[in-house]
Amino acid sequence: MCGIFAYTGKGTKDAGKVLLHGLTALEYRGYDSAGIYTPESGSIKTPGAVAELKKKVPKKFNGKSGIAHLRWATHGEPTKINAHPHSDCQGELWIVHNGIIENFKELKEKLVKAGHTFVSESDTEVFAHLVEEHMKKTKDFEKAAIAALKEIRGTYGMAIQYKGEPEKLIAARMGSPIVLGVGKHEHFIASDASPILPHTKKVVFLEDGEIAVITPETHTVYKLEGSRVTRAPEEIEWSAEEAQKGGHEHFMLKEIMEGAEVIENTLRGRLIPEKGLAKLGGLEGVTKKLAKIDRIIIVACGTAYYAGLVGEYMLEEHAGIPVEVELGSEFRYRKPVINEKTIVLAISQSGETLDTLEAIREGKRRGALTLGIVNTVGSTIARETDAGVYNHAGPEIGVASTKAFVSQLVALALLTIFLGRQRGMSLVEGKKIAKELKALPAKVQKIFEEKGAIEKLARKYSGARDFLFIGRKYSYPVAFEGALKLKEISYIHAEGCGAGEMKHGPLAMIDEKFPTVALAPSDSVYEKVFSAIQQIKARRGPVIALATEGNREVEKIADDVLYIPETLEMLTPILSVIPLQLFAYYFARNKGYNVDRPRNLAKSVTVE
Ligand code: M6R
Repeated sequence: MCGIFAYTGKGTKDAGKVLLHGLTALEYRGYDSAGIYTPESGSIKTPGAVAELKKKVPKKFNGKSGIAHLRWATHGEPTKINAHPHSDCQGELWIVHNGIIENFKELKEKLVKAGHTFVSESDTEVFAHLVEEHMKKTKDFEKAAIAALKEIRGTYGMAIQYKGEPEKLIAARMGSPIVLGVGKHEHFIASDASPILPHTKKVVFLEDGEIAVITPETHTVYKLEGSRVTRAPEEIEWSAEEAQKGGHEHFMLKEIMEGAEVIENTLRGRLIPEKGLAKLGGLEGVTKKLAKIDRIIIVACGTAYYAGLVGEYMLEEHAGIPVEVELGSEFRYRKPVINEKTIVLAISQSGETLDTLEAIREGKRRGALTLGIVNTVGSTIARETDAGVYNHAGPEIGVASTKAFVSQLVALALLTIFLGRQRGMSLVEGKKIAKELKALPAKVQKIFEEKGAIEKLARKYSGARDFLFIGRKYSYPVAFEGALKLKEISYIHAEGCGAGEMKHGPLAMIDEKFPTVALAPSDSVYEKVFSAIQQIKARRGPVIALATEGNREVEKIADDVLYIPETLEMLTPILSVIPLQLFAYYFARNKGYNVDRPRNLAKSVTVE
């Protein structure tokens, strides 16, 4: 997720100031690098957040129009050279982009052969050169932009400016949001409405496959294939802060609701379903080494650790590799037995968690091949590991990790296919997992339809001071993650427990005031979990069961039931965690707590 903002006016406002101000409102969307361009003053780019850019932009950075960007890196390190806006060879065409151009490598090869010179590693730069190439033939900015858009594959929310027609800006949307702002003698393009709202409340939301052309006085929307779209501007009453959260009350809710999109983004370009293969570009350099390794140690903390536990089950069952999972804080002080056939795999959203980082360093010292599943491009763990897989989940602002967990599980499933197919995994099995991964986003959307019911349930149980979360096999780590979500944002006691472990102690806590959330999907251990629910009910403990759609049996015994769609057993956690995230969210929100910033916690734990 990056932030883009573009402006065109009659000159009564200084475009430089308008753009910098707008970027501040978009700051939550990316802080790896920032950049600005106006035809009159040129471009300024810098690594870091918008504050860094502000320091570098001189007071006299004039212009009537321009484009600006905040980057959350996906392709290429977060350096000045990779920062947006990107331009063509002549510095005439400028572009800011949020998304990923999947076929950028092949397009780049073609353009290099045609004589184009590239300065960055960014996929976005390709687009500027592609428009330039089409301009040579059409001599028309709009036609060239449309022709270039038809050639790219992937996701984009973009704004394009041509020095030769400085008043005119083109916007395009495919998978990444674009909002037009309709002002008096001025128009805007942005990733969300927050930077537009100080200027006008009239907006037009673009849909996928649409492009828009704006000038100070006009805005025109087309479908990419050419037909005109008539859509009257709507008045929005959101505050700038509400707009940043996509109209949701908190970032946490927004990030949970991004679940389906996050799965698509983590999978994008990485599955070859018909061959049952996963293509992980970040592992290309170590493919041969990976074929020889005989053990994986996953190191992580908090939510990422629970993702690692799910990964252990996936990798052992489907790729046949022995896996251990360790807390970074434990691993770094032990004397682990490691050799050159061991992978130490770090999982980290921020890529900066000190305990995980030190665990990776320890693995390296002991001769292991180090890998990362990391969300933040260019973070320390991403840089210090030998190879890895980026999540592409976009920035996670809420302290409670939600969409990153979902994305970590998807990345682990991809790794399972990748390593599994190098070993004994059959084509049929590879194809089955790939097909089911592709079906997940629609299933996640289905869970969101139950949002209202989950909210009601959170209200019903709002008086409880303790919660037990139980699960078995793939649901075991999810039970711990569900408990962690609840305790970290609502400050109540919540415990995870293996459903088979209940009788070894935790059952003693159960009475009518101590509810249990029981993860009971219809999988290979369903009957065992069902019997744990019976044990709890025999002690009058209230039970909220999480079951697979169509299971009527569980309704007879549990007090409340939440349903998830059916999927492969190994992928169930990707679905089952979402109702638990929503439950924790509503539970804490009902208490009036600051859900996005729970007390005593930080988003990135860079201390011991
Ligand atoms: O950035 P990381 O994934 O390395 O962070 C690890 C933990 O600090 C993090 O998951 C933490 O447990 C979250 N607050 C949980 O919601």
